[in-house]
Amino acid sequence: MYDILRKQELAPSIKLMEIYAPLVAKKAQAGQFIILRLDTDGERIPLTIADFDRDKGTITTIFQEVGFTTKRLGELEAGDRLLDFVGPLGRPTEIEQYGTVVCVGGGVGIAPIYPIARALKQAGNEVIGIIGSRTKNLLILEQEMGQVVDQLIVCTDDGSYGRHGFVTEALEELLKTRTDIARVWGIGPVIMMKNVARTTLPFGVKTIVSMNPIMVDGTGMCGACRVGVGGETKFACVDGPEFDGHLVDWDLAVRRLSFYHDEERRIQQVHQHGGDCQCR
Ligand SMILES: Cc1cc2nc3c(=O)[nH]c(=O)nc-3n(C[C@H](O)[C@H](O)[C@H](O)COP(=O)(O)OP(=O)(O)OC[C@H]3O[C@@H](n4cnc5c(N)ncnc54)[C@H](O)[C@@H]3O)c2cc1C
Ligand code: FES
Repeated sequence: MYDILRKQELAPSIKLMEIYAPLVAKKAQAGQFIILRLDTDGERIPLTIADFDRDKGTITTIFQEVGFTTKRLGELEAGDRLLDFVGPLGRPTEIEQYGTVVCVGGGVGIAPIYPIARALKQAGNEVIGIIGSRTKNLLILEQEMGQVVDQLIVCTDDGSYGRHGFVTEALEELLKTRTDIARVWGIGPVIMMKNVARTTLPFGVKTIVSMNPIMVDGTGMCGACRVGVGGETKFACVDGPEFDGHLVDWDLAVRRLSFYHDEERRIQQVHQHGGDCQCR
């Protein structure tokens, strides 16, 4: 069992949990993820490692309550326990000294971009951060990002805070003025990552995205997390989750994410209104 040591609400429906998992914390690196299960009947959900503390033996995850399991997870409190907490999974981010790099985080995608930005800074890069959310009260980790980057640009879609507009607009402006950008990371909703890759393509700047397909086993055995990359089939859990955004088959990624929408809607309705669950 894995103890929840701390829980914090960062924004409406976005929660942070610090979990005691010393073996995972010992090996965790930026870019990796864990898969957890709440109880014996629970589904396995992947969440990115937003932070880790090797001395305390803790892993921090930040999640958005979007469906059945993330909502149930959000109901737990410090002192409660999780049944399974497996990781670290996936390949770590390739951290090198590239020169000047840009880390773009959208929505809950700011959580995974934060440890990457921090590691890139520690490796001696000049790091420019661009973070954005739909509106001001959904913005997370602004202070934390501000502490690890050289320059931080904050955007909101509705203009309620920071720059008015999408993160991709700020990115395009930056690429027009700075010709020395060596690499861009973009993490957030699929549509945002697709547009980050589309923005950097004409500038020829290598762009890394973190794919979030449906996952089941997280070990490369079940095939659920298939992603098309450069005409090949890759498994996000073992070959990723980071890939070259200019090579990802985005249409396929969008189609595959909506594969179980009907079932997801049905289980939520059963949960909300009670009654017999017919999913087993
Ligand atoms: C490598 C990886 C890292 C992730 N990191 C984070 C994170 O740090 N924070 C965060 O909020 N979310 C993260 N996600 C997404 C998170 O796993 C899903 O939001 C969660 O599984 C949804 O479960 P649910 O039962 O609450 O919702 P459901 O009702 O099952 O689904 C709601 C939405 O989540 C998607 N989804 C459902 N199951 C999965 C699954 N097993 N894997 C991926 N997507 C799924 C569905 O396509 C749907 O759009 C990550 C996903 C991956 C693959
Ligand atoms: S989750 Fe099963 S192969 Fe990746």
